[in-house]
Amino acid sequence: MRSYRLAVIGGDGIGPDVTSAALAGVRAVAGRFGFEVETTDFDLGAERYLRTGEVLDDEALTALRKHDAILLGAVGDPRVAPGVLERGLIVALRIAFVQSVNLRPVRLYPGVTSPVSGVTADNCDLVIVRENTEGLYAGGGGLSHPGTPNAVALQNSVTTAAATTEAVEFAFRLAAARRGRLTLCHKTNILTHAGGLWQDVVDEVGARYPEVEHDYVHADAMCLHLPMDPGRFDVVVTDNLFGDIISDLGATVQGGLGLAASANHNPHGSAPSMYEPVHGSAPDIAGTGQANPAAAALSAAMCLAGLGERDAALALESAAASVLAELPALAGPGMARRPTSWATASRPVRPASRWPMRAVRC
Ligand code: IPM
Ligand code: MN
Repeated sequence: MRSYRLAVIGGDGIGPDVTSAALAGVRAVAGRFGFEVETTDFDLGAERYLRTGEVLDDEALTALRKHDAILLGAVGDPRVAPGVLERGLIVALRIAFVQSVNLRPVRLYPGVTSPVSGVTADNCDLVIVRENTEGLYAGGGGLSHPGTPNAVALQNSVTTAAATTEAVEFAFRLAAARRGRLTLCHKTNILTHAGGLWQDVVDEVGARYPEVEHDYVHADAMCLHLPMDPGRFDVVVTDNLFGDIISDLGATVQGGLGLAASANHNPHGSAPSMYEPVHGSAPDIAGTGQANPAAAALSAAMCLAGLGERDAALALESAAASVLAELPALAGPGMARRPTSWATASRPVRPASRWPMRAVRC
């Protein structure tokens, strides 16, 4: 029987709640589609950091690497200084496991109401492809003379042709398998060096995909066009920080952060890819059973697609989508609060989107 080893990092706040609900969904489809899932829980996140002073040690990295994929819940805790866990765990894993392509589908599922009027299931189905290892996330820089009027902060942004090409190649392949439209989102009018490199890579790779039309939108203008006319976009490829920002905007357009899924994809297959909801740890409702697990379940569906279990991925996505229409709390932005037990409920599986499969394996 086909069998997969999944590393599970529940993390902080509602992370363990939504992850266990998503895993219930994974186990249900595994049973139906004839494969096994063996999970290993990793104690990483705020509690462990507060207990041991360690965020991510070599032993954990080595053990994680032995898995076929990683499911991550959420990371972040008010008792820990900003950046320690975000940079020390999430960004460190993305970089260590060369997860250079971050996929963030923005799809309004049937029955969910977008807070933006005029957005419907028919005109909201796009994927943001975010370069995931560099830009301003690369981490270089420093703060001199802190706490004085002479304080100077430098935060370096790194753009390499290699990582940019990986993201852009992936985005073109994805666009070719979808509606054949790719949009580069950057800020070439101000970030002329990095933006110029991105545009060169898009032009060069685009020449090999004559069937894909490509255009360009500045990141600030994207904040206008994405909510006002999401139907104009199919695949949006962008740098790390712009992708972070516009994907929260995309989450709002699709009905809330409780619905936004993501894949941190290693396009070489040289280390496990990692799947996580876009939302944070919402510590105020942790353990209360109120967190909406849809984004975690949809991320787990992307994980199954990444493992090659396309039918199971579609079934899990369809099951999640069929429940969404029944959750009135999803009618607006934010982390809608519903019991986490739905993943185990028996629901009819209806065909839904086909993006995760194409997104991850193309
Ligand atoms: C996200 C989050 C992360 C990011 C943080 C938690 C490191 O906001 O996945 O969108 O900035 O990428
Ligand atoms: Mn974010």
